[in-house]
Amino acid sequence: MDKKFEILVANASHLQYVDTILNTIEEAAKIRGTGIAKRSPEYLTQKILEGKAILALDGDIFAGFCYIETWGNKQFVANSGLIVVEQYRQLGLAKKIKKKAFKLSRTKFPDAKLFGLTTSAAVMKINYELGYRPVTFAELTDDEAFWKGCQSCVNYPILAEKNRRFCMCTAMLYDPKEHKRHRRI
Ligand SMILES: CC(C)(COP(=O)(O)OP(=O)(O)OC[C@H]1O[C@@H](n2cnc3c(N)ncnc32)[C@H](O)[C@@H]1OP(=O)(O)O)[C@@H](O)C(=O)NCCC(=O)NCCS
Repeated sequence: MDKKFEILVANASHLQYVDTILNTIEEAAKIRGTGIAKRSPEYLTQKILEGKAILALDGDIFAGFCYIETWGNKQFVANSGLIVVEQYRQLGLAKKIKKKAFKLSRTKFPDAKLFGLTTSAAVMKINYELGYRPVTFAELTDDEAFWKGCQSCVNYPILAEKNRRFCMCTAMLYDPKEHKRHRRI
């Protein structure tokens, strides 16, 4: 990657980017015609203030984002809301953002299983390289609050009809117990 991006754990000084992040995520979902768990500005603000958000900047221009959240009494951590601004795609930026989110998750919640739901081939590839494996939805958290997030997705009727067992997304999971002998982070 030739371009130099700053990839950091966001803090209060980055709240100015919240609206841009949300608009970029929404526009990308419209273009892809895929579902998305919509987030409010208040929710994203909270994630940033809790030190659970990763931001990529090109100078002071927004380039990419992702956040982490715990579910099921901190037994699970999801990486969500990954977005790279169109002009910065195919440069390896999502990979860098996901790596940083992975390290943040493992540092903050070392015993938690990490998981994500995605329809994106790029994300599946990145997750796989990080040590995630595809799983059925039954292996994910049963935290109602997590699944409530899916209600704003266009595909939610499918999830509901299938009693939360299947939908359009592929579920991927990183279980730290399966990697203990190989690496800590
Ligand atoms: C998905 C997204 C985040 C990828 O960002 P990116 O910065 O272009 O991804 P990277 O450059 O880090 O690519 C990572 C890998 O995925 C591959 N890849 C990138 N886009 C791809 C695509 N559309 N289809 C298949 N593979 C793709 C890259 O070739 C790379 O593989 P490599 O390691 O063999 O080189 C970006 O396209 C995006 O923001 N899309 C809209 C929002 C979205 O889909 N978010 C994910 C929701 S779960």
